[in-house]
Amino acid sequence: MHDLDAIVNEALALFSGIDNADQLEQAKARYLGRAGALTELLKGLGKLPPPERPAMGSRINAAKTQLELALQEQREKIQARMLDAKLAEETLDVTLPGRGLGLGGLHPVTRTMERIEALFRSLGFAVADGPEIETDYYNFTALNQPENHPARSMHDTFYLDDGKHLLRTHTSPIQIRYMEQHRPPIKIIAPGRVYRVDSDATHSPMFHQVEGLWIDEHITFADLKGVLIDFLKRFFEREDLGVRFRPSFFPFTEPSAEIDMSFGAGWLEMGGAGMVHPNVLRNVAIDSERYQGFAFGLGPDRLTMLRYGVNDLRLFFENDLRFLKQFN
Ligand code: FA5
Repeated sequence: MHDLDAIVNEALALFSGIDNADQLEQAKARYLGRAGALTELLKGLGKLPPPERPAMGSRINAAKTQLELALQEQREKIQARMLDAKLAEETLDVTLPGRGLGLGGLHPVTRTMERIEALFRSLGFAVADGPEIETDYYNFTALNQPENHPARSMHDTFYLDDGKHLLRTHTSPIQIRYMEQHRPPIKIIAPGRVYRVDSDATHSPMFHQVEGLWIDEHITFADLKGVLIDFLKRFFEREDLGVRFRPSFFPFTEPSAEIDMSFGAGWLEMGGAGMVHPNVLRNVAIDSERYQGFAFGLGPDRLTMLRYGVNDLRLFFENDLRFLKQFN
């Protein structure tokens, strides 16, 4: 029968051009569904003369089977294509190196701070702390630097708008805070950030200091030299260090010295130090007839410069990863 062949050919052509599972099922309904073309033909069998009915019936059933097979084949093709596409999308090249966890690293100045703490702890120093926003009293007055004292102009201070507070210009106020709370013997270091209106190759507006304070009955300038030289040798892991103590002035120490280390053709100042001034001890009600001791303030940023051979201290605070990664 002409009609049947035409329907089958049309259906086969349609099925083979479909690459989407839903569309394929819709196409199936057009031929095999309740109102499908083949279903209609079957329904029309009754109008045929009875002798022709069996032959036509079996032809239509054969056509149904042929279409079902074609549909199944097309379904499998669609599934295979989807799987291929998915596999291509999720390709894994097992020969590539692993991506790793992108581990961070410690900042070179942080490394120095940790090293300083460990070395001083091994010399019996405890570690103390204090606020970065200070009052005039702790930053200056209690350190034997009354208002209008000329030494105040040595520090270019950042003042807060309230007129009462400032960003500490050194870690020395921690000496006062600690001595207010503790009685001798006192043996501490106090690391932290400090701030000054200052910027060049060896000065940054935010920098670090490590304060040191040792107060007891018989602490002398010889102890100060011994502790600092021993510390520097261990910090730089060298015996032949170029270190010098240069006479200097600080209102809160007497006598005072500056500690320099050889740096290129010259010297770089690493810190200030001296014997704690009796007025400072009096300000915290410690008997200056019985107790004495030394204090120092080191510049860990500069120690880091020297240790790693960096010639501009501002590089440490620019956060350029190409620079910082070299230390890890
Ligand atoms: C002081 O700040 C004293 N408080 C140190 C001190 C403590 C003396 C206890 C006596 C007893 P000075 O201003 O010199 O001193 O600073 C100490 C060190 O901090 C310097 O030697 C230097 O290493 C470092 N430093 C000072 N200014 C800067 C800056 N702008 N950037 C980086 N490091 C600095």
